[in-house]
Amino acid sequence: MHVAVFSAKPYDIAYLTAANAADPGHDLRFHAARLAPGTTALARGAEAVCAFVNDRLDRPVLEALAALGVRLVALRSAGFNHVDLAAAKAAGIALCRVPAYSPHAVAEHSLALILTLNRKTHRAWARVREGNFELDGLMGFDLYGKTVGVIGTGRIGSILARILLGFGCRVVAHDPNPDPDCLARGVAYLELDPLLAASDIVTLQCPLTAQTHHLIDDRAVARMKTGAMLINTSRGAVIDTRAIIRGLKSGRIGSLGLDVYEEEGELFFEDLSNRIIPDDVFARLLTFPNVLITGHQGFFTTEALTAIAETTLANITAYERDGAPLHPVPGPLA
Ligand code: NAI
Repeated sequence: MHVAVFSAKPYDIAYLTAANAADPGHDLRFHAARLAPGTTALARGAEAVCAFVNDRLDRPVLEALAALGVRLVALRSAGFNHVDLAAAKAAGIALCRVPAYSPHAVAEHSLALILTLNRKTHRAWARVREGNFELDGLMGFDLYGKTVGVIGTGRIGSILARILLGFGCRVVAHDPNPDPDCLARGVAYLELDPLLAASDIVTLQCPLTAQTHHLIDDRAVARMKTGAMLINTSRGAVIDTRAIIRGLKSGRIGSLGLDVYEEEGELFFEDLSNRIIPDDVFARLLTFPNVLITGHQGFFTTEALTAIAETTLANITAYERDGAPLHPVPGPLA
């Protein structure tokens, strides 16, 4: 099957090509460009499009792809909040995703943000390289005995909860579908407000949905413990960034670790180091000494990229063979 692969980085090309060699037959055409209204023509002749998290999959793009004959959009991600599901259905385009590639990768990245922010190893590294061995400003706290609130205990959140229990943390959680393993390990499920009030660290591991959009807003920040740490490796819009900035300025939020950002589509995955960042909200975030941002790299491990490539190709193969991908995206409003 001719597949137009958008937002193709060198690592995507390497891993997809390797996985395709093991299961030959797909004609992968790699395009560095993001999928957007101006780039849909690159999919001419393709029956499938392979897209990532910051590709545009709104109604105009999906209609343009359908008009070109595209019948399948294979997401190289678990999240599908960027897809207009109703428009895809109306356009007759099937959608599939990679529901689980390495939940450990993202859980461990959340932990990396927690440990780095807490012990300030990023700042210590820079200091020591400059010959500055002062400790002032590098004080952290013991994770042992602290309460961590995990919002969303699905594949990623449940692994993070287990890791944190290993550190001797008390883990509380908020999820409409409690995880049996977490329950068995003594994780207490709370409503959102009591979780926010109890937690020294709040970490977001839920999907972006209509219910979780701006879940952490001014109201939620006001309910957090003064000085609490907030971590988001899920999707940017689960937090209201402006409210978080207000929380940082007031000191209610003691530190912030982000792997995702509401408007990351304009920034992440590109080298913009020679350009002016036009996003004033993001630029403000960068000025805080207690904010640590990574550019959506939670998934970025060799294990995860191998699994993403293999599952993506298996989805496409199943669609070609059986008319249905292995891992269809749930329907509208799912
Ligand atoms: P999952 O579907 O296994 O788990 C999500 C959990 O969130 C479920 O248990 C669900 O019941 C819960 N949830 C739904 N609505 C909620 C709400 N209102 N409040 C609290 N919990 C709620 O998903 P998984 O694999 O654990 O991934 C979670 C999210 O992480 C993905 O949707 C994606 O947005 C993000 N992600 C980020 C990556 C990164 O590179 N930073 C990579 C992969 C995923």
